[in-house]
Amino acid sequence: MTIWFTGLSGAGKTTIAEKLVQVLRDRGRKVEILDGDVVRTNLSKGLGFSKEDRDTNIRRIGFVCNLLARNGVFAIASAISPYRSVRDEIRATHSDFVEVYIRCSIEKLTERDVKGLYAKALSGEIKNFTGISDPYEEPLNPEVLLDSETETEEESLAKLVARLEELGYVAPAVTA
Ligand code: ADX
Repeated sequence: MTIWFTGLSGAGKTTIAEKLVQVLRDRGRKVEILDGDVVRTNLSKGLGFSKEDRDTNIRRIGFVCNLLARNGVFAIASAISPYRSVRDEIRATHSDFVEVYIRCSIEKLTERDVKGLYAKALSGEIKNFTGISDPYEEPLNPEVLLDSETETEEESLAKLVARLEELGYVAPAVTA
């Protein structure tokens, strides 16, 4: 299956995705993660942040996820993926797809600004920055909605794992 994390830069997609990888590996599953920042240094090297380039990036990630997923690997994508139509296009190529939206307000992200990118986007130094000067289309019906503004990382992770168990994708942990 593919677990697709979407949300603004700095919302916590990669953090939660990496924690999920650990949980799934501990339960004996094969897992691979495709992270936007990493993919952009190899598979999508040279692509920028126009709508066209972002869509290309997302389609490449979706394509690899599909290859992995149909071979029994849990494919986890972590990319802003701002456009709903492309996310839905990827969903349509999968038989098992779970969209995880990590929500966080722009105010909070600007305050955190771990990579210093929001300050640069607000000053105009970085153009077309998602959420500031470029669109982000929220999922209308994500299988999982996490809120990194009000939940701790542990709470979000627990919520996500519980939902995957509920959907039948992950067997509950065996307790001794
Ligand atoms: S996506 O839109 O194509 O899905 P992706 O997740 O791969 O984006 O990459 C986003 C990362 O690129 C951000 O976390 C940030 O570090 C960096 N970045 C650089 N410029 C931009 C920009 N204009 N908009 C959003 N992210 C940017």
